[in-house]
This record gives sequence, structure tokens and C-alpha cells, in this order.
Amino acid sequence: MELLEQRIIRDATVIGDDILKVDMFLNHQIDVDLLNDMGKEFYRLFGDMGITKILTIEASGIGIACIAAQYFSVPVVFAKKGNHKNVGSNVYTSEVFSFTKGVSYTITVSQDYINPEDNILVIDDFLANGKAIMGLKDIIDQAGASLAGVGIAIEKGFQPGGKMIRDNGIKVESLAIVDSMKDGKVKFRR
Ligand code: G4P
Repeated sequence: MELLEQRIIRDATVIGDDILKVDMFLNHQIDVDLLNDMGKEFYRLFGDMGITKILTIEASGIGIACIAAQYFSVPVVFAKKGNHKNVGSNVYTSEVFSFTKGVSYTITVSQDYINPEDNILVIDDFLANGKAIMGLKDIIDQAGASLAGVGIAIEKGFQPGGKMIRDNGIKVESLAIVDSMKDGKVKFRR
């Protein structure tokens, strides 16, 4: 998506060789107009698939998913990080290992909000090693629902998550795929 790539070039900063800081429009301050265009693009890519629900993970996925959901006219469910007692005892949980943070955490979704009839689009801000997405897939599988596809804002193509998920036969559409960030210079996949 040209607009997102241009925005990354203009505003993002590279930390080390592998972290892209996009706090100024995606992860801290949010450019709602840009998210609106991203939502339209997700609808163009997945709009004919009979999506019944969008699933994401807190925190940064929520804004992107909610704006996209307006085009699909479906609810958003977000996985909570941690074991949430107030969600109730009827929950699906999965363990996610974050390479970026070097820790494992539990994600939790109430069984009330995903059912076997659901055809789910997963949306998230970053795809790096793919562990968060595989945790969400695990929850969808536990619920007996279908995973229609995965929509990502920014995929780091030099990390293994995108290939691993596509190799599992899952449709993945990333609005920008960064192939390298050497010496602070971002190169996109064409
Ligand atoms: P994975 O899910 O693909 O395996 O990736 P990983 O565990 O390594 O990512 C952990 C967190 O770091 C995720 O956010 C992910 O969105 C974020 N992340 C990964 N690479 C980058 C990057 O290059 N830039 C930025 N800005 N974030 C990155 P999170 O812990 O779920 O945090 P949040 O959603 O609450 O913000």
C-alpha cells in the first residue's frame, strides 16, 4: 500500500537492524485517516470472503481492527494478554512467546465471543516471528471456527513469521512488507 510505505519512509525510525518505530502514526499517536485507508484496503482484500468477525490482540491491533471493522460491518474481538479472571472461566487461552521482548505470555478470549460458525479475519499491526498470529489461530481452532485470513499493517519480511504462516496454507496480506532496514534505510518488497 503506497500510502503506508510513504508514511514509513517519511516518519518511521529504525532502531538497530530490526525494530521499526512507528509511534508517530500507528503505535502511540494514531493517524485515523491513515487507518481509514488501511481499513478500506483490508476490505478490498478480504471483503468477499464472508467474514463474520475480526480478531486481534491488545493493544496496538485494536485501533486498526476497529476502523477496518466498519467496512466489514462485523464486531471486533481482541485477545487479552494475561489470565483474566474477570473474563470468566469459559475462556480459550494460548501461550505466545515474544522474541522481541524475550518473554512468554498467555492470551485469553471468552468463549462467548467466538463460535464454530465464525469465519474470522485476524488483523494485527506487526508480523515479525508470527507467534502472536499463531496464538490467535490456536484460539480459533479451539473454538472450531474458521480462519479466513490474516491482515497485517507492517510485515518484517526478513523475519520468519510471514513465510511460516503462508506455509501453513493461510492467506496473509500485509499492507507493507519491509525486506531490510540496513543502516537505517527501509527497503520494501516489490
Ligand atoms: P511475533 O508476534 O510476530 O512473533 O512478534 P514478537 O513477539 O517479536 O512481537 C512482540 C511485540 O513487538 C508485538 O507487540 C509486535 O507488534 C511488536 N513488534 C515486533 N516488531 C516490531 C517492530 O519492528 N516495531 C514495532 N513498533 N513493534 C514491533 P506487542 O507486544 O503485542 O505490543 P502492543 O501491541 O501492546 O503494542
